[in-house]
Amino acid sequence: MHSKARTGLSIVCGMFIFVFFAGALAAFLIGQSQARAGSGSESGGNSKCYVCHPSLKTEDISTIHLAEDVTCDKCHGPSIEHMHDEMLMTKPDVLLGRSEVEQLCGKCHTNHENPEKVKEFEEKWAGRIRPNGRAVTSDSVCTDCHGTHNIDKSTTLPAGQSQEGEWVAAFNGRDITGWKPSDNSSWTVKRGQITAAPPADGKGADLWTEAEYEDYQLAVTFRADWPVHAGIWVRGRGGPRVEIFDSKTPEAFTGSISLPGRGLVLVNLREDLFDPEGYNTISIKVRGDRIQVWLNAEEIGAVRTISPLKGQIGIHVSKHPDSEANEIFVREVLIQKLDKPK
Ligand code: HEC
Ligand code: HEC
Ligand code: HEC
Ligand code: HEC
Repeated sequence: MHSKARTGLSIVCGMFIFVFFAGALAAFLIGQSQARAGSGSESGGNSKCYVCHPSLKTEDISTIHLAEDVTCDKCHGPSIEHMHDEMLMTKPDVLLGRSEVEQLCGKCHTNHENPEKVKEFEEKWAGRIRPNGRAVTSDSVCTDCHGTHNIDKSTTLPAGQSQEGEWVAAFNGRDITGWKPSDNSSWTVKRGQITAAPPADGKGADLWTEAEYEDYQLAVTFRADWPVHAGIWVRGRGGPRVEIFDSKTPEAFTGSISLPGRGLVLVNLREDLFDPEGYNTISIKVRGDRIQVWLNAEEIGAVRTISPLKGQIGIHVSKHPDSEANEIFVREVLIQKLDKPK
């Protein structure tokens, strides 16, 4: 009996020792393969971030820098809480707005070796949207030209939106030059994004382009401190507005179009097209009385509706019934004027 227990014990001990060594071996091998992938040994490479950001495995900014031991955490901080937050409510430690990009990259990089090559590239792409969804303009930052790191979902132009003319960045990433706030509101630029809280008086706040537009295409990329009630005016305050909201009665989601005094004239019933945690792009094509809308490159639909023939483009935010004062953050506004239909 006694000796039987001893044998049992030594088997258990043996198993422990075996498991311990197997574990150590596995850890060693994993360490080796990560070291071979050129990643930081102490930071463990990028694999912990790739779990949820798999599209960055093949992206330039991530891969070039991984090989140099500049891993995600060197630019975004260790972001431990972000990684372990199953509700995905905690943001990474370091978020980089548009205006902060050059400062960050400038820590390790100085001027281009071949400025004439960069100039050539700039001329080739001037005013056009690159495959990474960004337009090259005189205000371009590093990530407009390098990589697709800025947005980790597909940002190619939706089918139906086309490269007919020149895309112009209506927001310079630094301040609201070219825009005019409505009297009751104060809009600011924080971390490279235009933002405003809805005014306490319950009325909506608007930020208008100084210029008026007739026929055009528009792409607005934004994030929202959900829930919000916001929107994009298409041709001035009396005209149609593309909504950024969750409406219960009637049921309608972001990308629907409303007309003041008439209610909804186009309804988006697909709640899944909107990402409440990340950036979203609303694309709009306005031609005559026809308005066509896409959300994250998926077409929502088109309507012919009463509309002034020209007007300012406006960003709108009003108080959401279920929350205090939630903000939206607009990172990019690209506009392309269209010729009159023949
Ligand atoms: C458990 C899943 C998960 C892990 C692990 C994870 N993320 Fe995220 N992360 C998300 C989600 C979901 C979002 C929001 C959607 C989006 O923007 O893609 C996000 C957004 C981000 C953003 C953009 C936030 C913003 O508001 O602009 C950054 C930057 C980021 N993650 C960095 C990292 C880094 C660095 C790591 C590794 C240290 C990491 N993430 C690991 C799920 C994760
Ligand atoms: C060399 C610095 C650098 C490294 C390395 C880096 N990032 Fe970023 N990241 C940035 C910058 C700068 C931005 C903002 C780019 C912009 O908006 O133009 C950004 C933006 C993001 C975003 C926001 C994308 C969105 O939806 O707008 C996510 C998510 C992200 N990074 C995740 C990661 C992950 C995961 C890794 C590692 C695989 C990583 N980053 C490595 C600098 C870096
Ligand atoms: C912590 C330092 C560090 C930061 C921050 C950093 N880089 Fe780098 N980057 C490097 C190193 C090191 C290399 C490899 C050596 C080289 O080519 O300069 C590199 C290489 C590159 C290359 C490839 C160069 C080539 O020869 O093909 C590009 C492009 C680049 N970085 C762009 C960026 C951009 C854009 C940012 C900002 C989002 C950035 N880097 C931020 C360290 C950094
Ligand atoms: C207008 C587009 C554009 C912008 C903006 C831009 N780059 Fe470049 N970059 C290029 C092109 C094109 C090349 C390749 C040039 C060549 O063939 O020598 C390049 C090359 C590089 C290289 C490779 C080595 C070198 O010095 O030529 C690095 C590193 C780099 N860029 C970093 C950056 C950083 C950091 C920023 C922001 C401060 C930035 N770039 C902004 C277009 C751009």
